[in-house]
Amino acid sequence: MKVSCALYLEVEAEEELLTLDWDSLPQPVMVLGGGSNLLFTKDFPGTVLHVGIGGITRHADDRVTCGAGVVFDDFCAWAAKEGLWGPENLSLIPGECGASAVQNIGAYGVEVKDILADIRAYDRKEGRFVHIDPATCGYGYRTSRFKTEWKGRYIITAVTYRLSREPRPVLDYGGIRKALLEKTLTPLVIRDTIIGIRREKLPDPAVTGSAGSFFCNPVVPEDVFKKIEGNPPHYEVEGGIKIPAAWLIEQCGFKGARNGGAQVYPKQPLVIVNATGEASPQEIIGLEKQVIDAVQAKFGITLHPEVEHV
Ligand code: EPU
Repeated sequence: MKVSCALYLEVEAEEELLTLDWDSLPQPVMVLGGGSNLLFTKDFPGTVLHVGIGGITRHADDRVTCGAGVVFDDFCAWAAKEGLWGPENLSLIPGECGASAVQNIGAYGVEVKDILADIRAYDRKEGRFVHIDPATCGYGYRTSRFKTEWKGRYIITAVTYRLSREPRPVLDYGGIRKALLEKTLTPLVIRDTIIGIRREKLPDPAVTGSAGSFFCNPVVPEDVFKKIEGNPPHYEVEGGIKIPAAWLIEQCGFKGARNGGAQVYPKQPLVIVNATGEASPQEIIGLEKQVIDAVQAKFGITLHPEVEHV
């Protein structure tokens, strides 16, 4: 289903942000990255602003600055080709560099916060450009201050990542080490392996619409964990025990479940897909609710969506 906004603004250079008459724009103003983690549930009454600033610049110390509009995987591909370590485990994540720093994207044991060096943004409150130290951004699992107390304040125009010529393979997640056995490790080899794993499990956004993982993996206290039958996979993290939401959803029999055109993806039930290409927002939200209710009823655990609803 198509939804529309009152105004769509494409920003191609930083100067444009200085000359914008913010008060005359339809409100609210929302900054869109690649849009790959959003679910529009209805028409948006305000302005959708997209920062389309491109460019990848390598500095002498192997920091790399990307315009906020650079497709994140284009940066990953570029780094792997240059033989630079850092983002290879994040290969094929949809979305753009600007959003990578908002969402703290992560995969296969790496989060973008691990390689962030600097964020350049227009501060709407102060009316000027600033550099933000990633240490001040409150990064956590798929979250940051940009999503909470700073929401709406900064418009990110460039992100600088700290890469390295020294090998820094991160191989401890799931089947990566096994998939790489006997291979000479380079950023490109790891990138190709990650791409292979993702293609097996996750829908190709160019073919089947989805917003990637629909839910966050819940972190529960030990007593809640101990009550779960069936020996769930788990990892100890700060604040408790993280259980894959995919496992909980599968135990509830929801793999492949449909609600109209919306479907729990059979190969990775953490993802809800628009299986027919015609699913309405209501069908997706309906399926989301069915999944949350089923997991709540069976395990007493509340799943929270990772996808932002607009
Ligand atoms: N699992 C099942 N049944 C399934 C699939 C998975 O029980 O059908 C269990 C397995 O035990 C498996 C575990 O879930 O070991 C973890 O599965 P997977 O490695 O696919 O990762 P995930 O925890 O489901 C997270 C991220 C993904 C990221 C992968 C790899 C979140 C919300 N999602 O998924 O990120 O690619 O790890 O690091 O943390 C995204 O954010 O959009 C995204 C795809």
